[in-house]
Amino acid sequence: MKISILGDIALDKSVNTTNAVSEALVDRIVIANLEGPIKSDFSAAIKTGPTLGSDLQPLKELLSDLNVSVLMCANNHIGDYGEQGIEYTYNQLNLLDIDSFGYKSKVFKWLEDSNGKAPNIQIINMCDVEWGTDRDFYNGAISFDFSKLNNAINLSDKNSFRIVVLHDGKEYHELPSPELRKLCHNIIDMGVDVIICQHSHVVGYVEMYKNAKIYYGTGSFCLEKKGPMSNKIYNSISVNIDLDQDFNPYISETFFVNKNGAIDVSKPTKLKDLKDLKMEDYKEYWDNEFKKKSYLYVGVLMGHSNKMIRILNSLGFYKLIMSKRGLRKIKNVVRSRAHREYITNMKL
Ligand SMILES: [Fe+2]
Repeated sequence: MKISILGDIALDKSVNTTNAVSEALVDRIVIANLEGPIKSDFSAAIKTGPTLGSDLQPLKELLSDLNVSVLMCANNHIGDYGEQGIEYTYNQLNLLDIDSFGYKSKVFKWLEDSNGKAPNIQIINMCDVEWGTDRDFYNGAISFDFSKLNNAINLSDKNSFRIVVLHDGKEYHELPSPELRKLCHNIIDMGVDVIICQHSHVVGYVEMYKNAKIYYGTGSFCLEKKGPMSNKIYNSISVNIDLDQDFNPYISETFFVNKNGAIDVSKPTKLKDLKDLKMEDYKEYWDNEFKKKSYLYVGVLMGHSNKMIRILNSLGFYKLIMSKRGLRKIKNVVRSRAHREYITNMKL
């Protein structure tokens, strides 16, 4: 069985794909992340951050060009048009004969082998808790928690090959944060064979942990949006998992580039591997990042817009109004489970 897992897809106009793209995905089970629902005349959900979604016709064309048969929906945008958007997306995908999961309580999917034997390949899809997850409404994107993962794993048998696609990570960072890395290690310890993290929009580092491979970011395969994002160049990879009869994996990557809305296969680049990075450099990277963002997050916690935060932070406003004691108070409230519960259950 040959599986290819692609990065984020959301588009509002047609895109061209080259023959090389189709050829790279032919005769494979192609699975992609649908970063937002199929749009109709529903109102956008009340939330923070951008609203994403795809128009049906260009999406249909792209999925057919790519040979996609399964879409993953555990992400921070699938609920951008509320529950109605999710229901509409699910029904439209059914009409297109495309299986979707990662929402509507569908935590995982079996990828049955062509011989019709017992289903032994399990793909599990979960995301970080943001808007539109099952914490907001029942049919929302599957938010990560260990009990759901454990339940899914318990339904498989010891010979199963398990893939977890986790929509989590810090946007535009190639390196996983220490907490994400620890989370992925814990997931592998539970018996998962491959983890693919998505959401960062960039192709990230890879890591081998106890014979299991972790991808920390596959990039955005096709994230078209009118306005400032329309001319962005997106680099992405598909993770190709070829399994023999005994489910021994051969794992490789295909590299893609999306330039001005046209997608092509690009030259293979060596993925950066965490083993080649000195751990003191890794620690320093995150120490600097956390230091850089400490006061900036005061603006986030005050509910300021991103533009306002940029301006006020550059003027040193947050440093001026927030003492170190104040920062300590915020840190304690957010890291404590008991305190955090009050924040995540704010009644709006
Ligand atoms: Fe995302």
